[in-house]
Amino acid sequence: MHKHVTMLALLRSMTRKEKGLLLLDTHAGRGLYDLASLEARKAGEAASGIERLLAKHEVINAAAILDYLNLVRSSRKLLEAKRGRDARETYPGSPVLALGALRAQDRVVLIEAQPEEHLALREATRQAESVAAENVSMLIIECADGFERLAAWLPPIERRAMVLIDPPYEDNAGDFREVERAAKECLRRLANAVIAIWYPIKQDKDTDAWRQKLIASLPLQAGGASTPTTTLELWIHPLDNRVGLNGSGMLVINPPYQFAEQAADWLPALHALLDEHTSGGCALR
Ligand SMILES: C[S@@+](CC[C@H](N)C(=O)[O-])C[C@H]1O[C@@H](n2cnc3c(N)ncnc32)[C@H](O)[C@@H]1O
Repeated sequence: MHKHVTMLALLRSMTRKEKGLLLLDTHAGRGLYDLASLEARKAGEAASGIERLLAKHEVINAAAILDYLNLVRSSRKLLEAKRGRDARETYPGSPVLALGALRAQDRVVLIEAQPEEHLALREATRQAESVAAENVSMLIIECADGFERLAAWLPPIERRAMVLIDPPYEDNAGDFREVERAAKECLRRLANAVIAIWYPIKQDKDTDAWRQKLIASLPLQAGGASTPTTTLELWIHPLDNRVGLNGSGMLVINPPYQFAEQAADWLPALHALLDEHTSGGCALR
């Protein structure tokens, strides 16, 4: 949820300008997730996450969170109409949410390496077509390595792009290394690319060292200024906990105008809504 609210807030900022953009989702996933599946039930994620938020819909003021909840709701409604059965336990992934926020002048490239997930993604985007506010002018779905395909899609003809990099971090060290390489490759090809990198917070000290090193190694902009970044972190468990995944991080490179100022409003609100026992926290820097 933290990742998806951030992604949508970025897209909403970027689509304030009339000019079209390219969204490149390098690790797109399956598009729609079944919260009733055993895995999701076991983790209890749905009940403590999206359902809690939807139940509090009426008392939420932060526009970015409401925007996200409205898209989750409308995607479920349209799926229900299309499938003719309950879609209450369906959760939209980044491609479906993004399609709901993009416009006719925008283009979307979704990359998913696992053949089964890729097929599910094709089906999900087909079903989600009617979720989209408008149909984007190009939607391409590739079954490939998202890190490798960056070079094929950047720079885009629009010279405006948002790149979402959301690997599974199964090979933890490998993915952290690849993400750093990919971010630099994006900037080399398109200096103004807005890059949103999701990362897990397991051992806060290690994660923070990685994040700081990555930021310090980003190329300087024309004129010698450092490339701007905003980091948004949210954690539900104390950071020294050993539950496995203590929190969620989003590193945004080249954040749009006033994105951070708006996040200063919605990030603490999102944390307060999710962290029932107030054992976690959030940070914006
Ligand atoms: C965390 S999930 C993506 C979730 C999705 N971005 C969302 O927010 O709904 C990571 C996905 O990356 C896929 N994947 C793993 N390695 C990949 C690679 N090298 N290139 C593209 N996709 C990959 C996995 O199969 C998995 O579906």
